Amino acid sequence: MTSTDLDSPAVSAGGSASPRVKQCVADGVAGLKSYGLLYGSSPVMLDLYEQIERVADTDATALIIGESGTGKELIARTIHERSSRKGGAFVPVNCGAIPDELIEAELFGHEKGSFTGAVQGRVGYFEHANGGTLFLDEITEMAPVRQVKLLRALETGTFYRVGGNELISGNVRVIAATNRDPAVAVKENGLREDLMYRLAVFPLRAPPLRERENDRELLAQHFLAQLNQQEATNKSFSKRSIETLRSWSWPGNVRELKNAVYRAFILAEKTVELPHPHLTSRVKKAVTQGDAMSVWIGTPLADAQKQIILGTLKYCGGDKRRAAKALGVSLKTLYNRLSAYGDEREEGEDEQ
Ligand SMILES: Nc1ncnc2c1ncn2[C@@H]1O[C@H](COP(=O)(O)OP(=O)(O)O)[C@@H](O)[C@H]1O
Ligand SMILES: [Mg+2]
Repeated sequence: MTSTDLDSPAVSAGGSASPRVKQCVADGVAGLKSYGLLYGSSPVMLDLYEQIERVADTDATALIIGESGTGKELIARTIHERSSRKGGAFVPVNCGAIPDELIEAELFGHEKGSFTGAVQGRVGYFEHANGGTLFLDEITEMAPVRQVKLLRALETGTFYRVGGNELISGNVRVIAATNRDPAVAVKENGLREDLMYRLAVFPLRAPPLRERENDRELLAQHFLAQLNQQEATNKSFSKRSIETLRSWSWPGNVRELKNAVYRAFILAEKTVELPHPHLTSRVKKAVTQGDAMSVWIGTPLADAQKQIILGTLKYCGGDKRRAAKALGVSLKTLYNRLSAYGDEREEGEDEQ
């Protein structure tokens, strides 16, 4: 996610908003800061806390933009909790998971008999969120015709249930989220420009973990401390885990990191070993079935070659001469390869 055409935030909470960013001492991770439900001490996160503090207590619609796993829902919940609406409901809706023909009824409710199968009337998410916050996740997945009614509801604060003729007015604060660049979504994915501008009165960017240098280690220690507390254990990361935390870019962001820590925690006796995700994917073994073999998509070429050579050798019952013939290489080449793999296998054996 790089840039959007959105203007800078048009809302000010008035005066100098000072975020109550607190040093987290609860689980003893030195240097870790938290704000609302969010943890992280990197400059981009401190900047985000500042922006949330400014927007939380207004009724401005916010659009949270960020890759999957960066904490968009947690940001939305934090806005809700820091607002005067915190006593009301926080209603999350994944627009991408609702079939197109149902989304209107899900959002605005419907009257009995308004469509086939509507045997009973039902209140929609807008009414559930009355007095609280409605979180519309994956907003760019909504079909353009459905977006028109949403825009109207946002602009007027009123809507009709599907099949109803009573105008309902709601007191709902809407926060939307997307993992696409909204400007690109307008050009390519049918996001209406008017809706984008209406939603993005206050755009907030959820930064990816690769921009949050020290946070990787701090967050990992935080998740480990939480698990230690839950399970009454005292496990700690190995030195190599710390290196992995620093060197891996974590494309799945906080979600990937949290899951990796959880998995490694379960497997650990005392010392938690985070396997390097890159190495883990490299050692994905080919699947052999009779005289055929499938290699995983994305296997590095050198690894694929190694798997084919070793697989053929095995198929030939260890007969190197036959294997070399089948592979179309000289016996010498095969020997060279095998001795190279031998060295590698000794080094890499404990990676699995
Ligand atoms: N800053 C953060 N501090 C602590 N936990 C986080 C943070 N960001 C994300 N998480 C955790 O990572 C996971 C994914 O977060 P989520 O809000 O669902 O991401 P997104 O909606 O962007 O995909 C959740 O388990 C969430 O609790
Ligand atoms: Mg999400």
